[in-house]
Amino acid sequence: MESSVPRPASLPLIAIDGPSGVGKSTTARRVAQALGWDYLDTGAMYRAATLALLRSGVDLADRAGLERVLETLQLSQEGPRIFLAGEDVSEAIRSAEVTRRVTPVSADARVREVLVEQQRLIGHRRRWVVDGRDIGTVVFPAACCKIFLTASPEARARRRHLELAAKGDPPPLDVVLADLQRRDAADTTRAVAPLRKAADAVELDSSGLSLEQVVDWIVAKHLGHG
Ligand code: DC
Repeated sequence: MESSVPRPASLPLIAIDGPSGVGKSTTARRVAQALGWDYLDTGAMYRAATLALLRSGVDLADRAGLERVLETLQLSQEGPRIFLAGEDVSEAIRSAEVTRRVTPVSADARVREVLVEQQRLIGHRRRWVVDGRDIGTVVFPAACCKIFLTASPEARARRRHLELAAKGDPPPLDVVLADLQRRDAADTTRAVAPLRKAADAVELDSSGLSLEQVVDWIVAKHLGHG
């Protein structure tokens, strides 16, 4: 006889968590395409909130100013593009300044409260592949499939360096590595929703794997063939 008690992990949602530069966004987008699901980039939401704070000149110490910005924060995503109050900010949120400032902004408990609420409203509507740091642990603990994607800091720095080189004049590899290690330390040691593997997540070290191999592995895992 089937039990009427709902299974704890039953939300049709694939959570992909992991450190900076591991290729979560590209992987998550490709997994979503393969399954015909939607894709939500929660890192882009923290970046867009950071851009909104920078543009309004509000510092995190100004709590009333922060509340004002959060109250009027209008984020949306269409395919790979992210919009802030209707403006396409997909490029602006990748600037060096936003990348530097997003670490303290994403560690702020009030910012997380507001963005996690928005993520839950979005995620409960359809089938989603969602990437971030706390998706399997905090935002959607009932996700049916949780992946913790890792790669060595060196492998991640080499990939990031190649991406930056494709755009123009990249900083030296050791600078890219030091920046990733700084972000790893901040993400794993912050007080609120630190980066960690959920107890029921499966870990995949992608250091020696191609993007196709990682995507195929996650899709197979989700379909129960992994
Ligand atoms: O994945 P990304 O580099 O675009 O993320 C930007 C920042 O947001 C990064 O400092 C980690 C943070 N982040 C977070 O704290 N929680 C998430 N769910 C997603 C990103």
